[in-house]
Order: sequence, then C-alpha cells, then structure tokens
Amino acid sequence: MRIPLIAGNWKMFKNPKEAAAFCKRFIELYKDTDVQALICAPAVDIPAVVKGFEGTDVMTGAQNVYFEKEGAYTGEISADMLKTAGCSFCIVGHSERRQYFGETDEIVNRKAKALLEEGIRPIICVGESEEIRVSGTQNDHVRSQLIGAFDGISSEDAVKCVIAYEPIWAIGTGRVATPEQAGDMCSFIRETLIDLYDEDTADEMIIQYGGSVKPENISEIMDMPEIDGALVGGASLDPDKFMAIIDF
Ligand code: PGA
Repeated sequence: MRIPLIAGNWKMFKNPKEAAAFCKRFIELYKDTDVQALICAPAVDIPAVVKGFEGTDVMTGAQNVYFEKEGAYTGEISADMLKTAGCSFCIVGHSERRQYFGETDEIVNRKAKALLEEGIRPIICVGESEEIRVSGTQNDHVRSQLIGAFDGISSEDAVKCVIAYEPIWAIGTGRVATPEQAGDMCSFIRETLIDLYDEDTADEMIIQYGGSVKPENISEIMDMPEIDGALVGGASLDPDKFMAIIDF
C-alpha cells in the first residue's frame, strides 16, 4: 500500500523568521489527512521548520545535499548534517539544479546514494523540457534519467526513493500538465522501474507529479492511479493553500 506523499518545495524563499511564521499558521489549520505531508525548506530554515512542526506528523526535508561525507568543500552540506538537523527527505536532481548548477544524472545518483546511506529518502526529480515534449521523445528522456539516477542502487534502497515527475514546461508557469499527460508519464515511470527492478519493487515506490499544483487541480491529479502524491512549489509557500492541497 502506497501512502500518498505531498511535499512542498520552498525553493529559495523564506528566511528563518518567515519559515517560523508559516509553521505557526499552518499548525493552527492543521488536521490529520490521508496523506503524508512534508516541507522541503532552504537549509538555514530547517531548524525552524523542525521545531515549528513539533507535535504533528508533518515532516521536514532539504532541497540539496553534497555527496561526500565531510571535508574541505566550502559551502556544502552533508547527508549526516541534514539527518542530524531532522530531515527525513531530500530533493535531488530538480530541473532548476540541473539547469543552473550543472547537476547531471551521475551527480544525482551519487547524491541519492549518500542520502540513502544516512537513512534520508531521496526525492529524485525527472522531467522533460518543452522542446523534448514537442519532439515526442519525452519517454526516452525520462527513462535515461531514471537509469542514471538508479545506477547501482539495490531494490532494497530503491523502494525508499520517491520519484517526482516534473515536466519543466509546467514548473512555475501555471501550465499544469493534463491529468492524462501526467498519469501517462507516471505509468511509464512505473513500467521503467519494473524493467530496472521488478514488479514488487516498482509497486512500492511513490511517484509524484510536480508543476503548477494548486488547491484547484490537486484532486484530478491525485485521481490518476499511478500518481501517489505531488511536489508543490509556489502554492506551498502559503500555509492556507498548502493545507488545502494536503486536505484535497
Ligand atoms: P511549481 O513548482 O509548483 O511552482 O510549479 C514545482 C517544483 O518546481 O517543484
């Protein structure tokens, strides 16, 4: 049984004070839902978010990690540091990191392995650009991202990973993929996972959709049988909207 996971990705928004204010309001609204809820916060906000969600089952995650355990890597943060700070998930391979910070499939793979070693669950993002979608090769593109990301990861570890399908053309644009487009790709991802692992493994894995998810469209997205949750950017910055999304 896959328990749906709805995760907020705050990107580079909110300082620690604003993060604490979000949690204060969110806690006032919060009620138990059928989904697991998570906020992936900027690194400096993690302590405020962990503290702000105390007494609820809302989880805290990070948006990036470095794959080395420790060392002279100025500015980087290790999986152990995230774990000790209270993170249970970490996003890797978001298209913005691939585009602006040169994150390749190989780096995504190394980061995922470093997280798994510390018991943090990676949220591995995949998805095609508009150009690729127009050319009709989106399945090949996503398949090769998955092959790269899961290289050398055992099925025991793979089940701990979450996959977020985020078509780049739908991120922050207000242009949500149709439920059919999102559902078809998530089915294709599940089939690819069967190829890479086996049916039981693929069956356990959480596949999210991301890209302009809002309170108004979450139900139709979650209605698709192969979609087990969402990765929410803009709408997760507002506690009222995020609560409405997890209580869809
Ligand atoms: P969006 O971002 O919801 O603002 O489109 C989604 C994401 O990039 O994770």
